[in-house]
Amino acid sequence: MIKYIGSKRVLVPLIVDVMRSLDGVATVVDLFSGTSRVGHALKRAGLRVHANDHNAYAATLARCYVQADAEDVRTQAGRLVSEFNVLPGCAGYFTDTFCVRSRFFQPKNGERVDAIREAIASKGLDPELESVLLVSLMEAADRVDSTTGVQMAYLKQWAPRAFNDLQLRVPDVVPRTPHGKCSASELDAVAAAAQLSADAFYLDPPYNQHKYLGNYHVWESLVRWDKPPVYGTACKRQDCRSRSSDFNSRTGIKDAMREVIGRANCRYLVVSFNNEGYIDRATMEELLRERGHVTVIERDFRRYVGAQIGIHNPQGQRVGTVSHLRNKEYLYLVTPERPSGAVAAIGGATLPLVLS
Ligand SMILES: C[S@@+](CC[C@H](N)C(=O)[O-])C[C@H]1O[C@@H](n2cnc3c(N)ncnc32)[C@H](O)[C@@H]1O
Repeated sequence: MIKYIGSKRVLVPLIVDVMRSLDGVATVVDLFSGTSRVGHALKRAGLRVHANDHNAYAATLARCYVQADAEDVRTQAGRLVSEFNVLPGCAGYFTDTFCVRSRFFQPKNGERVDAIREAIASKGLDPELESVLLVSLMEAADRVDSTTGVQMAYLKQWAPRAFNDLQLRVPDVVPRTPHGKCSASELDAVAAAAQLSADAFYLDPPYNQHKYLGNYHVWESLVRWDKPPVYGTACKRQDCRSRSSDFNSRTGIKDAMREVIGRANCRYLVVSFNNEGYIDRATMEELLRERGHVTVIERDFRRYVGAQIGIHNPQGQRVGTVSHLRNKEYLYLVTPERPSGAVAAIGGATLPLVLS
């Protein structure tokens, strides 16, 4: 899967265990799905998932990893991946924008991305199969990029992996669940919360002002293939300036969270947030108590790679270190009534979890 700030890679087993421990949970909405690794794991665990994210690249990941079923797409995806892996490169918008005007990828790989993206567009594929191919291309490009994992900037010196040749793989799409077909959408979370219902909602909103669109603008342009005008050294899409999210606003996030929490049509809520985000633990607990009893699981983590690397000036010289290298991730579980007192061992934590 792609490198992604805020991805719950390490927390996925815990989130799956928590969902499975909840009485009668067969359907889950993942309202801020990002890489869709949470929805993918929940689907694999047999739950029927709806994944939503307001960015097109994330909705494409959701259509691939959550909505598409392996039995429908795997054979054709394998055939197309083999066909595209021998397609010669042909420079176009992607090479010009992300390999010549900026240096996110080596031109030899940018030319392959251009050729494969045009081939995907020309095939007129069914949306689920097209998403699987787009994810295959996004992930292949991610394996040969020259960034620290965000696209606000590229590295001054080429990352060693950028010299490798781009190679597509078939994404790990899972079979349909016994509870029915999963689905995906590309909506603002507040609107989606009003439309969707499930036994449980998983909420993993952004924690601060950094817009995911700006951090992953290359994937947005690759998926949309609208070849927009760009600005700045990182060649960001022009709409990075106009598209926004209330969840990236220090003043707006609390009300936006309150709306989502109030609208979510579900019995259980599971929420991820950390101790560096705009909503502190006491405020989050207060917001969530409107919906029931709140249990908090706390985990200690290494901060994202940028913090490990330190602070650099525009010339790439290290000019400082960050104050701390670890943070706390909270998983808030909201249940309609107080757990009855029996305990369960979940993800290494002992929790009072007999819920019905
Ligand atoms: C912390 S990330 C989710 C990470 C995800 N759980 C994973 O493991 O990959 C937050 C996500 O919220 C999305 N997002 C931000 N504002 C949104 C909004 N208003 N509506 C829907 N999605 C939003 C971002 O695009 C981003 O993918």
